[in-house]
Amino acid sequence: MTYEKMTVAAARKAESIGKQIILQGWVRTRRDSKAGFSFVELNDGSSQGNVQIIVPKELSNDETDIKAVTAGSSIAVKGLVKESPGQGQATEIEAQSIELIGTADPATYPLQKKGHSLEFLRSLAHLRVRTNTFGAVARIRNRVSFSIHQFFQENGFYYVHTPIITASDCEGAGQMFHVTSLDLNNPPKNDTGKVDFSKDFFAKSSYLTVSGQLNVETYCCGLSRVYTFGPTFRAENSNTSRHAAEFWMIEPEIAFCVLEENMEWAEKFLRRLISDVLRDCAEDIDFFNKHIDTTLIETLNHVLTSPFVRLSYTEAVDILQKSGKKFDYKVDWGTDLQSEHERFLTEEHFKSPVILYDYPRTIKPFYMRVNEDGKTVRAMDVLVPKVGEIIGGSEREYRLDLLEERMQEQELDMEAYRWYADLRRYGTVPHSGFGLGLERALMFITGIANIRDVLPFPRTPGNCEF
Ligand code: 4AD
Ligand code: MG
Repeated sequence: MTYEKMTVAAARKAESIGKQIILQGWVRTRRDSKAGFSFVELNDGSSQGNVQIIVPKELSNDETDIKAVTAGSSIAVKGLVKESPGQGQATEIEAQSIELIGTADPATYPLQKKGHSLEFLRSLAHLRVRTNTFGAVARIRNRVSFSIHQFFQENGFYYVHTPIITASDCEGAGQMFHVTSLDLNNPPKNDTGKVDFSKDFFAKSSYLTVSGQLNVETYCCGLSRVYTFGPTFRAENSNTSRHAAEFWMIEPEIAFCVLEENMEWAEKFLRRLISDVLRDCAEDIDFFNKHIDTTLIETLNHVLTSPFVRLSYTEAVDILQKSGKKFDYKVDWGTDLQSEHERFLTEEHFKSPVILYDYPRTIKPFYMRVNEDGKTVRAMDVLVPKVGEIIGGSEREYRLDLLEERMQEQELDMEAYRWYADLRRYGTVPHSGFGLGLERALMFITGIANIRDVLPFPRTPGNCEF
């Protein structure tokens, strides 16, 4: 007899009824009936749901003792797909042979049938993908990554690979990880007693990048529409549920584009990611809606259909000051908004995503276009309920004199940024872009509240396990 190799996802579909198939995967549970049958729930990652395999007693033999087919073990099954009489599943498999590939000692296998807390599962990052929650996160992370490329490719953007190692601090916040090959126990010193980085690998101080923006801007001023999508690193010692030291960022950069158009791109982009997931990961989203956040689908549908509120920073400060709400941090024009303020605006006041724009120049990086008022810059942040800031972007300063003024104001080494200023020196154009934190987007789409649970192997202060 010939058997067709099939995924669990395919075997669960009614179309497969009547087929002789081979399934391979990991056992979620096994239960034995008095009548001599065993019921094995099998999963191979291809779908949220398992397929049920019915194993008659005769198949248990010296080679494969059904008692050793325990949670976590890996098996291969040959059998016939039949219509299931049970509720909530279209098919089941009548096993004709079963092969135990790898055992999992029930005395030590840590994923037992009872649900585990997300905190506990973080200590099992190497096994947690075998749970419903982390399998679903992985599938959605994959779908979103694919949609990101689809969206930009379909809109005429080129994918650009920007460097991971850099000498410039794009965000100017000094939260960079040093990259060095010097002997840290005995580094070369210069005349003033400081470490001599001219003797280092790159003959200067270098870091892991916090953003690919400055590099991708150069490609924008030649290819018109570009994006970068890669890992970025921040040494911020903030142990919050929304910050990771290593995260993935998507940064489109668009030539001949002003801030309003940039906002439209951001809105359209977010909607696309959400609608693709709702369509293609429905089973996983249903799972999150049931077990993680019962308002999830409603929230996502709301974002698809209602326009984002647009509000200047100055108007936001006014609303916050008049709200009568007690915040931990006081709101004053000129200070950065804290996440409690952002969340008040999107969760309580507007109950909708909000795009804040025109921030004070003193709290934003040097590259943002200065407004006519001289006090604010063409920055924008997209805020969403429960997550807060999900996108940060701006129209870039394309006037050389104003850019140089801002660089001086922020005490940047003009020579080090000469190549960046060259874009304004030769054929400058208005251009804009933004950065979406992939993990923040995933938190919003799944309802998962901690960034550590949407990254396969999170890196956070004090934690670089696995
Ligand atoms: O607002 P940020 O710092 O903007 C930039 O880096 C710009 N260069 C982007 C651009 O205009 N091309 O970061 C962008 C986004 C944030 O809105 C947030 O979603 C995410 O990156 N982000 C983080 N995500 C996880 N952990 C962190 N520590 C993050 N820091 C920023
Ligand atoms: Mg930001």
